[in-house]
Amino acid sequence: MSGAVRGEIFCMATDAGNAHVAIVSAAMPFHLVATLHHLACAVRLLDGASSAVAELGEQPVDLILIEDDDPTDPGGARLVATLRGSRAQARTPILLITAGDARIVRATAVAAGLSDVMVHPVDPFDLCLRMNNLIALARSRRAAERQARNAAQAVAEAAAREREIIRRLMLAAEFRDDQAGDHLTRVAGCAIAIAEGLGLSEEEANDIAFASTMHDIGKLSIPDSILMKPAPLTEIEREEMKQHALRGYRMLTDSPSHLLQLASDIALTHHERWDGAGYPQGLKGAEIPLAGRIIAVADVFDALISERVYKKAWPLEQARAHLEAQAGSHFDPACVAAFVSRWADIVTLIREHRPAAVAA
Ligand SMILES: [Fe+2]
Ligand SMILES: [Fe+2]
Repeated sequence: MSGAVRGEIFCMATDAGNAHVAIVSAAMPFHLVATLHHLACAVRLLDGASSAVAELGEQPVDLILIEDDDPTDPGGARLVATLRGSRAQARTPILLITAGDARIVRATAVAAGLSDVMVHPVDPFDLCLRMNNLIALARSRRAAERQARNAAQAVAEAAAREREIIRRLMLAAEFRDDQAGDHLTRVAGCAIAIAEGLGLSEEEANDIAFASTMHDIGKLSIPDSILMKPAPLTEIEREEMKQHALRGYRMLTDSPSHLLQLASDIALTHHERWDGAGYPQGLKGAEIPLAGRIIAVADVFDALISERVYKKAWPLEQARAHLEAQAGSHFDPACVAAFVSRWADIVTLIREHRPAAVAA
């Protein structure tokens, strides 16, 4: 790499100012350096391929210019391939100035990841123009990557904030309803098992589980005299208690958030029954959103295995048998089958988050 670039020194308008250009050439002609001076670039001259690889392996630059004056030597193409293998230069524009019309050398260089090629003798104006364009391209690509990174970060931050708000709502519901205990954790765990048993994706299962933590958020609107009543409810009280489904829906609905939309569906429909005898809308079968059908199974199961002031906790097997007996009437049979198919996981979950006994 020792050839000369011929031409006159000239000035041109350019937006390549402050770009960092690395030039790989054994003997850089003075007038080419002067040309680059007019581009107002920070130029680093590297003496041959080995010093280029050593110096550019980790340091990003805006453009690499390789000058190769031997038309039979594939050294330039080899250097392109080596530089492309480094993390820092994987996508840096590389311009090769080669001697003659050695198509094989040029084709090899292009295959190795070369961005552009010029053939000696190079007109300095053309060189300047080409470099300017390549630098502008590199800058646009970096700006687009930066924007994409910022957008991805903004989305991740918004999702994290959304989940934090939901967790705080869940805490509010737990403070209000003493009996909840680990109820929400167990319902969410059962929901994941059922959703996965139904073949939903991990993301869908996690979303349903997370949204399920607000299924009883509407109980925030139920008076203490009913919510905390240490005895079975009267008919009127039961009707008031049933309002929690609709009120929870109203608290959560009309949100642009996917998780809150899902949570509002669950709040509204987790007391619907497969046979249409549930509340508040008396929806039937597939009219009930799948997430509501899943949480109906998980919620009733947990209510059965938990002790209440008016009932003992059921043994796990007995609660499971009840769900199986109610498949097709109270519950979506597919959800019950999915629940049963993940029985071992559910038993482990309940052992880890055992329902508390009611204090005497
Ligand atoms: Fe409920
Ligand atoms: Fe519940």
